[in-house]
Amino acid sequence: MSETPAILDVRNESGILIITLNRPDKLNALNRAVLKALDEQIEFAYASETVKGIIITGSGIKAFAAGADISEFSSLQAHEAQLLSQEGQLIFQKIDKLTKPVIAAVNGFALGGGFELALACHIRIASDNAKFGLPESTLGLLPGYGGTQRLPLIIGKGRAIELMLTAEQIPADKALAWGIVNTVTTQEELLPTCIALLQKFFTKAPTSIQEVLRCAHLAMDTSGTAFNEEAKSFGRCAGTQDFKEGVQAFMEKRKASFTGK
Ligand code: COA
Repeated sequence: MSETPAILDVRNESGILIITLNRPDKLNALNRAVLKALDEQIEFAYASETVKGIIITGSGIKAFAAGADISEFSSLQAHEAQLLSQEGQLIFQKIDKLTKPVIAAVNGFALGGGFELALACHIRIASDNAKFGLPESTLGLLPGYGGTQRLPLIIGKGRAIELMLTAEQIPADKALAWGIVNTVTTQEELLPTCIALLQKFFTKAPTSIQEVLRCAHLAMDTSGTAFNEEAKSFGRCAGTQDFKEGVQAFMEKRKASFTGK
């Protein structure tokens, strides 16, 4: 009898918690179970005395994470969508607020919620096949896991709006030029590069590391009401006919036809 593989693969390598999203056949889409498991690992990292840093990556060679799991959207009502957005925001906020360095090792598609997860990490390093995009407007939605807030802070409002409203994917070299990622490597070098960077950090004073992360988080000021507004917008979008059409079109592998209703 074959065992179902865990949705997260987690290992601790010399104080570095390497969390691998493990649904490669669904391009590591973030369903509720994955988000819950991720939350548990982040809580563990907060409490653990042995964990000094985290790397989040995706299994397989194709995707970091291709977004929230659209198959869970088919019967989603507006108020449930708002809640889902708030739940996701809360988990990603925990990542952002952690005073242990968190690196997203982006090894392929980072789309929608997958991109938002990478944005919540402190640093992003990408392999040369990585692609970044926010396709939510194609589904009649908007990024609901903090992306409307973090992306403008990281790359500026104009570029962020372009990405959100074209829904286009950009390759790793453009993500580097736009300041989304710090470094681009080969797929083989991706994890070793992330590990080497964390090890370099770990040679510095632990209190300095904690305080730099705490203050850098404050500089981004993600504590205001705007996140709540994002969740409300997510709920409003999910209450439209266009959202139902967007999700149905994705499931049927066709282009959506929007009416503005
Ligand atoms: N949610 C649920 N399932 C997803 C998914 C998502 N976000 N992204 C990919 N998958 C699934 C596909 O449905 C497919 O499943 P199937 O084999 O059972 O049909 C499988 O993952 C492989 O994806 P596929 O679309 O066949 O791969 P591709 O190489 O042709 O295209 C993408 C890759 C990333 C361009 C495409 O999968 C895509 O557009 N995904 C959705 C991205 C998105 O809109 N994310 C935001 C969600 S809010």
